[in-house]
Amino acid sequence: MGILDEKVVLITGTGGGMGRVAALIFAREGAKVVGVDIQVDGNAETADLVLRAGGEMTSIAPVDLTDPDQVHHMVEDAAKAYGGLDVVYNNAAMVRFGPMPDFSIEDWRVTVAGELDIPFFVSKYAWPHLVRRGGGAIINVASEAGLIAGSTPPDGRPHRGQRRRHRNDTAARPRRRPPQNPRSGDQPRPGPDPRQRP
Ligand SMILES: NC(=O)c1ccc[n+]([C@@H]2O[C@H](COP(=O)([O-])OP(=O)(O)OC[C@H]3O[C@@H](n4cnc5c(N)ncnc54)[C@H](O)[C@@H]3O)[C@@H](O)[C@H]2O)c1
Repeated sequence: MGILDEKVVLITGTGGGMGRVAALIFAREGAKVVGVDIQVDGNAETADLVLRAGGEMTSIAPVDLTDPDQVHHMVEDAAKAYGGLDVVYNNAAMVRFGPMPDFSIEDWRVTVAGELDIPFFVSKYAWPHLVRRGGGAIINVASEAGLIAGSTPPDGRPHRGQRRRHRNDTAARPRRRPPQNPRSGDQPRPGPDPRQRP
């Protein structure tokens, strides 16, 4: 028995890193996982790890989550995999860092697409499925960089600003539309251990 038995979670960026770990943990707690990534092999490996650990995961890959049409299609497939969606775990992101004068327009656009478009597109298309199940939760993985000033400004400024917008945007939406009631704004914020900060 897990605390998420019968729940279905859509996790983005399960091809490796923290998305893979999230898939293993959600599955360990009994959730059925739909994991999506642009990387086919990494995502298949995660599905295999989940299966070998006794869990369930459907892999959907490759999907470029910066493309709204691909996201829309993917979310419909994800909802079909286990008959609905209860949780969206917005983990996938793509970010470039750099000092302001050297940060190109292309760097900026790639970062905006990777940090803002991805969670927005996934949340937008998943929203009706969450509502259909009576609510649900959207969890946005953010960064401690969204809360603190960088040690070498302006490095990381796009990351900071976008993460803040992303946080405020999704957190505000349920308040505007209370009857639909998906919860959001819960944010794991990986970053340096505050005890180690000078
Ligand atoms: N690792 C850290 O120290 C750290 C610190 C702060 C915040 N974060 C945040 O945590 C989350 C996960 O971080 P991570 O280190 O595991 O990242 P990662 O780069 O290891 O994994 C991200 C995954 O997302 C996938 N992905 C990226 N762009 C995609 C796209 N367009 N379409 C589909 N899939 C795509 C990648 O293929 C990859 O599997 C990110 O949101 C990141 O910003 C991480």
